[in-house]
Amino acid sequence: MNKEIHQRSQRKNEHVKHAMHQKSSDTVSDFDMITLLHHSLPDLNVDEVDLSTTMAGFDIPIPLYINAMTGGSEWTKSINAKLAAVAAAAGIPMAVGSMHAAIKHAELAGSYRVVREANPDGLIFANVGADVSLEGAQQAVEMIRADALQIHVNAPQELIMPEGDRDFKSWRQNIERILKHVDVPVIVKEVGFGMSRASLQTLKDLGVRHVDISGKGGTNFARIENARRKSRDMAYLGDWGISTVRTLLESQSLQSDMSVMASGGIITPLDAMKCLALGARSVGMSRILLKSVEEEGIEETIDHVKDFHDQMKRIAVMINARTVGDVRESPLVLGPELLSWMTQRQLVLNEREI
Ligand SMILES: Cc1cc2nc3c(=O)[nH]c(=O)nc-3n(C[C@H](O)[C@H](O)[C@H](O)COP(=O)(O)O)c2cc1C
Repeated sequence: MNKEIHQRSQRKNEHVKHAMHQKSSDTVSDFDMITLLHHSLPDLNVDEVDLSTTMAGFDIPIPLYINAMTGGSEWTKSINAKLAAVAAAAGIPMAVGSMHAAIKHAELAGSYRVVREANPDGLIFANVGADVSLEGAQQAVEMIRADALQIHVNAPQELIMPEGDRDFKSWRQNIERILKHVDVPVIVKEVGFGMSRASLQTLKDLGVRHVDISGKGGTNFARIENARRKSRDMAYLGDWGISTVRTLLESQSLQSDMSVMASGGIITPLDAMKCLALGARSVGMSRILLKSVEEEGIEETIDHVKDFHDQMKRIAVMINARTVGDVRESPLVLGPELLSWMTQRQLVLNEREI
């Protein structure tokens, strides 16, 4: 195996290993600072709750997806195959991890294609970084016959990584070109650092219509990159970023122009419901599903996803919401820290019931 391929595969394996062992750093998550309002007289039967939604223009029956993680090495090929089996059985979309390895080295393509082979009719998203060329992006889509393309933006991760990029000036232009020329929907996604209103506005101005705001609170690449280096001299940046909840607050005024997907630290069905209540169209999970397939297996993970969805429906009844639209309009109460964030950032919640 040539040295560069070996290094790339090694790096992906290290990311997976560190992510799996990462512990949650926040004792109080921002999700705990939001209350959905209890309703004493729900006028609903759980069976009639319908949380179907749209994601990147596709109708999906369940508002959940497996977010980008793996591919590019033997180990992560097997993880991709397992995650794809879960996605197929649970009927949810799945994104593969960054495909740059296979764009550069065709011999690694199989570690991504395995996802399409395991789930021929499923919704599958390709994934590239914003430094990709248009040809690279097109190749990634073709490689797995992707239904949509995720472009990840991960500046802090690159800047903390010793071997990472230092120049991001091509990103906006690359995104614009890809939007114009790639013939599948494009989703611009963060990797766990969240997005401010200004970042979202910039994306909107570039023509982006679908964003995955992937906020802070779950997998933390500032910590992962620090753990990978010998001298952990940028460890003080471990809390960099904007949480998933705060990013959803930041996105309020742009939600009529862009469809927002939420990911980053979603652990419980209640977290997911809070994301929908803050306007997300669908909710993605990465690390928690990675750990589940690796440590518990495929069948257990399928059950986990189905149970997760079922519990979301039961919570919907507790707030008397039948659809994702009802959840989005349901009353909620924000704790003082979030309220302070809203005030200082001059944000206003979208209209909802009181
Ligand atoms: C092991 C691992 C590898 C990841 N690799 C990628 C990647 O290649 N491309 C990408 O866009 N995001 C990648 N991510 C970020 C996730 O897609 C997601 O944005 C982030 O992990 C937050 O979600 P979580 O808290 O549920 O893990 C990776 C996450 C993990 C855990």
